[in-house]
Amino acid sequence: MANGTHVLVLPFPGQGHINPMLQFASRLASKGLKTTLVTTVFISKSIYSDHPIASTSFRTISDGFDEGGFAQAKSPDIYLSTFKSVGSQSLASLIKELGDTGSPVHAVIYDGFMAWALDVAKQLGIRAAVFLTQSCAVNSIHYHVSRGLLKVPAEGSSVWLPGLPELKVWELPSLIYHHGSYPAWFDTIVNQFSNIDEADWVLVNTFYELEKEVVDWMSKIWKLGTIGPTIPSMYLDKRLKHNKDYGLQLLHPNTSACMRWLNTKPNGSVVYVSFGSFAEVGVEQMAEIAWGLIGTNAYFLWVVREPEVPKLPDNFKHMTREKGLIVRWCPQLEVLKHGSVGCFVSHCGYNSVLEALGLGVPMVAMPQWADQATNAKHVEDVWGVGVRALVDEKGIVRRETIKQCINEVIMGGERGNEIKKNSIKWKNLAIKAADHGGSSDKNIDEFVAKITS
Ligand code: UDX
Repeated sequence: MANGTHVLVLPFPGQGHINPMLQFASRLASKGLKTTLVTTVFISKSIYSDHPIASTSFRTISDGFDEGGFAQAKSPDIYLSTFKSVGSQSLASLIKELGDTGSPVHAVIYDGFMAWALDVAKQLGIRAAVFLTQSCAVNSIHYHVSRGLLKVPAEGSSVWLPGLPELKVWELPSLIYHHGSYPAWFDTIVNQFSNIDEADWVLVNTFYELEKEVVDWMSKIWKLGTIGPTIPSMYLDKRLKHNKDYGLQLLHPNTSACMRWLNTKPNGSVVYVSFGSFAEVGVEQMAEIAWGLIGTNAYFLWVVREPEVPKLPDNFKHMTREKGLIVRWCPQLEVLKHGSVGCFVSHCGYNSVLEALGLGVPMVAMPQWADQATNAKHVEDVWGVGVRALVDEKGIVRRETIKQCINEVIMGGERGNEIKKNSIKWKNLAIKAADHGGSSDKNIDEFVAKITS
């Protein structure tokens, strides 16, 4: 143990937040810190693990909905406000209990979505690091809104912010572009910055080379530690031999069916389609994706979560049994790493983007909400690792567009080849950042040195 220093790591209870923060905890543990991941009582009852993580301990706090979590609350507003009040007390009790039982907490690393955790840590005299789970570009946009530097709803057709490309208003995060759509979530993302000046460290799940300009700009406000991409080491720098997956799944992946099926497919011939753990795709959009996939010559592996299954067109599974596999959940990293996968049709959740980037898989971007439109903009225009499938005037991406975008990425041609070249470039840069002496590795070392001093 580095000095016996003990850190609590507190992700917001969702797959897209647990994955990066648990992975960061694994990195810290490899550098000698004692790490404890704190999930909610409900999450702890619903998790599944293929490779339990020996290096990190697990504890729980209550979000006020121990039986059903987010789904048990009547609205996001009720969930988020209850989590804040019940979670604050529960976190304070946990920290006191750990202190009383010989495992005192020296620092808290909290998800920016739970800004209240900083207040708890400060009241107990404990140092705290905020962990921003979204890209630096997205954080900068939300920061500008929080300080009144970017008006909502945005005026005009474009916005210009320091260190970012021109953004059309529809390329802004949806909670800003569709201001008023989910007020409680809007407050949560803006509140990340309400008390951030009191945090002892600001950590961002990105790497310097990926977002240089905006990182440089934000570093003028706080000393920013870019520590990503938080992808299990065996997919990146391969220095942590046991670190083969994130460690906790909220849904059971259908691993053997996926891998058996992929093993029978030629190199680069499969389109992998997934919209992450949260997005709900409309019935009409599901049909367009389905027909778009039928229209391409590629095979497809499509993750359709259980509640989304009834939205598939009648008979679709049967009709496409020669060409496609539909699963409820898959081991996404293993799938992206598989040689048969040539393209990822993604909602552009930030973890999915970082994973595709870190594993060198070109993308077709179909953003749904939250930060995804801004991520998609970067995928296409800044990093050049994919194309965006654009919506029509009804907000639906049509089958022809989906088909064209997939073909463009998967079949080669000038643009497809350029995208593949960029994907390899970013994959190598991501590995370099995470590897010994890379930009993120150095920042993690620096963080560990300060936290243990
Ligand atoms: C959410 C938001 O939507 C996203 O925009 C934000 O940046 C983080 O939180 P989510 O929608 O679930 O996350 O998407 P994403 O960020 O891509 O995270 C999904 C995670 O689940 C990824 O780490 C991915 O590897 C994993 N996954 C997804 C699986 O393991 N199996 C699957 O079948 C699908």
